[in-house]
Amino acid sequence: MEPGFLALAFGLLFIGGCSARVVTVSPGPLIRVEGQPVSIRCDVNDYGGPSEQDFDWEMSRDGNEPRSRIISTFESSFSDPSFSRRVASGDISVVRLQDNEAELKIGEVKLTDSGFYLCRTPSTDPTTSGNYDAQVQLRVIPNTLKVTPQTPPPVVQEGHDLTLSCSATRELTFPSLTYLSIAWLVKTSGGSEEILTFGPQGDVVTGPRFTRRYLDGDLRLVPGRNGAFELVISRVTASDEGTYACTGAEWTSESGGKWTKIVESSKEMGAVSVTPTNRSLNVKASSSPTSQSSTSLLLSPGNTLTLLCHVSADNLDALSLEVTWLADDGEIITVNRSGVVRANSVSKRGEASLEKTGDSDYRLAVRGVSSRDGGVYTCRVQAFIEEGRVTGGGAGRWHKVAEKTSNPVTVKVSEVKPNFTLTLEAATKPQKTGEPIELSCDVTNISQLPPGGRLGVSWEYISLPDKVTNASPPKLIGSLDANGNLESNSAYKDRLDSGVLVLSRVQPNTFKLRFLRTQKIDMGQYVCTVSAWSVTSQGKMVNAAEYKSSPLTIQWETKSPTVKVAAKTIRSVSVGGATFEMTCSAITENIGDWIGFAVQIQSQSGTEAIKTIMSLSPDNVVQVTDPSRRDSLVLAKTGAREFNFRLEGVQPSDKGNYWCDVTAFTKQLPDQSWTTAATGNSNRITINFQENGPSFSVETRYDTSSVYPWETAKMECSVRVSGSSPKSGGTNSQTEELAYEVRWFFTRLRGEQTTSPVVSVDRFGVVTKSNRNSSSDVSIERKDANTYVLYIFGTQDSDSGEYHCMVTPWYKSTSSGLWTQDKDYTSGKVFLSVKIAVWDSLKLPLLYGASASLGVGVFSLLLGLICARCCCRNTAHTPRSRTKLMDLEMD
Ligand SMILES: *[C@@H]1O[C@H](CO)[C@@H](O)[C@H](O)[C@H]1NC(C)=O
Ligand SMILES: *[C@@H]1O[C@H](CO)[C@@H](O)[C@H](O)[C@H]1NC(C)=O
Ligand SMILES: *[C@@H]1O[C@H](CO)[C@@H](O)[C@H](O)[C@H]1NC(C)=O
Ligand SMILES: *[C@@H]1O[C@H](CO)[C@@H](O)[C@H](O)[C@H]1NC(C)=O
Ligand SMILES: *[C@@H]1O[C@H](CO)[C@@H](O)[C@H](O)[C@H]1NC(C)=O
Repeated sequence: MEPGFLALAFGLLFIGGCSARVVTVSPGPLIRVEGQPVSIRCDVNDYGGPSEQDFDWEMSRDGNEPRSRIISTFESSFSDPSFSRRVASGDISVVRLQDNEAELKIGEVKLTDSGFYLCRTPSTDPTTSGNYDAQVQLRVIPNTLKVTPQTPPPVVQEGHDLTLSCSATRELTFPSLTYLSIAWLVKTSGGSEEILTFGPQGDVVTGPRFTRRYLDGDLRLVPGRNGAFELVISRVTASDEGTYACTGAEWTSESGGKWTKIVESSKEMGAVSVTPTNRSLNVKASSSPTSQSSTSLLLSPGNTLTLLCHVSADNLDALSLEVTWLADDGEIITVNRSGVVRANSVSKRGEASLEKTGDSDYRLAVRGVSSRDGGVYTCRVQAFIEEGRVTGGGAGRWHKVAEKTSNPVTVKVSEVKPNFTLTLEAATKPQKTGEPIELSCDVTNISQLPPGGRLGVSWEYISLPDKVTNASPPKLIGSLDANGNLESNSAYKDRLDSGVLVLSRVQPNTFKLRFLRTQKIDMGQYVCTVSAWSVTSQGKMVNAAEYKSSPLTIQWETKSPTVKVAAKTIRSVSVGGATFEMTCSAITENIGDWIGFAVQIQSQSGTEAIKTIMSLSPDNVVQVTDPSRRDSLVLAKTGAREFNFRLEGVQPSDKGNYWCDVTAFTKQLPDQSWTTAATGNSNRITINFQENGPSFSVETRYDTSSVYPWETAKMECSVRVSGSSPKSGGTNSQTEELAYEVRWFFTRLRGEQTTSPVVSVDRFGVVTKSNRNSSSDVSIERKDANTYVLYIFGTQDSDSGEYHCMVTPWYKSTSSGLWTQDKDYTSGKVFLSVKIAVWDSLKLPLLYGASASLGVGVFSLLLGLICARCCCRNTAHTPRSRTKLMDLEMD
């Protein structure tokens, strides 16, 4: 202070041209530690003479004379013997920094180097002015700095705290006041880095990478025992791995507030490795706390599924966990870091709950499982570590340090499957078509049928393989559901509905299939399928199991159906008009019970065509071929297989052979139509009898065979009765018992020969005239019992021709009292000539000879005509044969 003040005083004094030399050294006292290097600077200003100045260094213990000469920039032999060795060794040196500045350097200062160091500059000034030297005190203190680190744990779990403890001490030697600082460093692959320095003034300086963590409070300095300091690194991360060191330093505060580090000691604390969470985090899923390695779990419906997620980690306390249970990789339920449980509402699984049951156990529970809860379950754990908890105040930053998924646990929910055995047997086997079948499907050894469970059955038919259709698919016959309802939509529906096919449950566990009457198509294989139904909690029936019996073959020999018919005479006929009666009995084979018969009564007379007289349908409808005989024909069913035929008033035309033609029909159902099974003809029964009625002959007569035009022609048809009637023994006079049907016919001879009816009278006397091609009129008249006269009034030329009559006699049978029609009797033919033909033949000669015999000819002709007319009237009174008439014409 004093020299500075003086220099200032001199400076002020010589302002105005004249200057005074000023020599200065570092302000003191300088406190240095033994063995450390020391440098003392000296400069000179405001001097005269050459610019390069020389510096001499001297020292003394107390700052007074005598002084020892140490070193000089000017003179190499300047040093006293006490320093010359150190100068020679280079321990003590002087370094010129500038023309006016030099530095005294001591490599390793000794305690004995304490004293006052004087820097002197030899004068180069023209006049002596100012000061030429300056001195500073150097206090050398012994090196008592001790740095004592504590070895940190070599391994730290991620998220845990790392405490780095280090102490720095020194002995205080009054009056030399020194200060301490302590610093922590970490050496990583990226180099050495300062973490934090404390001191020397009680201040804290952090390395750039650690400032944030220091501000967050993750880097704390804690005073420890015995002057030690602890640096705590909270929640270490992998980046904190490295070799730690601590450095202690001793400081002195020099005048001007300049802090000078006078000694420093660095000590390695040790290497620290950080174990990452993902290395130690372990997540295990199990079905119970005790079962260690259960990887699968079998449950029954309705059970509660319980799974444990056990989390372990070396740094579990430092972790915040989010635990999620997944099934088949779908999230079911999660508990987040805040402990809030949230179930996945989208999941189709049962209701799940999740709770923390221990420090590290998370229990999943699913109540009332069903098959949809089956799957592969895993537990996923995400571990978080928070940063900056202190300043964050809950808004800390979290970062995920690890995520692990547990081993899978397979959960199966077994639906209880009922189990039973089926036995299919035939209780009744048919020997032939039409006989019943009874099949029995027995359910035995039932196990695991759930309470309330029911059985249902379905029956199937598989046709026997044949060459045409081998392996036809099974046909459903019908089924009984769990509630016993009959269901059928098959070809068997009609038979089921009508009751010929019965599907039933006879005992709790026996099902029956019964065909009352088999058909040929029923031959084949039968299978029963029994299903077990369980009732769900919602009351719905669910098919739990289904078993099929082995097929049972039902087969029988089929014989072709036959029907044999025997006809038997009941009443035979010996006379016409009597009643004929016969029965036909049918005997069937291989047809079955449900038979209907159609009967036809047929007859044949000689070689004539076979006639069907009447028929009876299976439904007992009678049909008669000839409606006019309806009243005298009877065909009736008189027994199950017996039919009676009766023919009343047998007539000669009924003669012939009679038999029954029987067709047997079957039907499967009452309302089904009949199908033909077989047909049979009976033996023949002959109707023949001696004709005992009258026999007849018919003839025609006329008074004259030739008439003139406009005259009336008259012809007679006369019936001659011979033989005897059964009653009277053959009299012609029984008019009530005999009647005739008489018909006249005309045959034209000219042109084409045509025969046409003229007029008829029936047996009741009713006359019917036919349409004729003539202007003449006709009538018929019964002359006596056996004679019918034909009159032709106003004959025409066109009436010329042959006439004959046909008579059908009817007589009343004396035995039966019935009218019997005899056959038709035809008379011989008579010729009628209308004489206009003669007149015509005369016309031509008249024309040719007209001119020759004019007057006489006319007269004689008239005369001849009159004469001829008179002659004709008196001739031909007896009938003539046609040949005679022809002869006459020729004449
Ligand atoms: C742990 O995490 C690091 C990086 O985050 C990764 O490289 C390493 O493979 C992980 N180790 C395990 C065991 O998961
Ligand atoms: C946990 O869930 C609750 C509710 O969804 C939510 O408010 C909270 O922020 C969540 N916590 C975390 C850490 O995600
Ligand atoms: C059903 O029971 C029989 C014995 O009664 C057994 O052999 C079979 O394995 C069982 N089936 C099922 C599916 O349980
Ligand atoms: C039912 O079970 C018993 C004993 O398990 C066995 O002897 C019998 O053969 C079984 N019956 C059928 C039809 O499988
Ligand atoms: C009547 O005579 C004419 C001509 O001679 C002929 O065409 C017609 O068929 C005849 N009719 C009858 C009913 O004979």
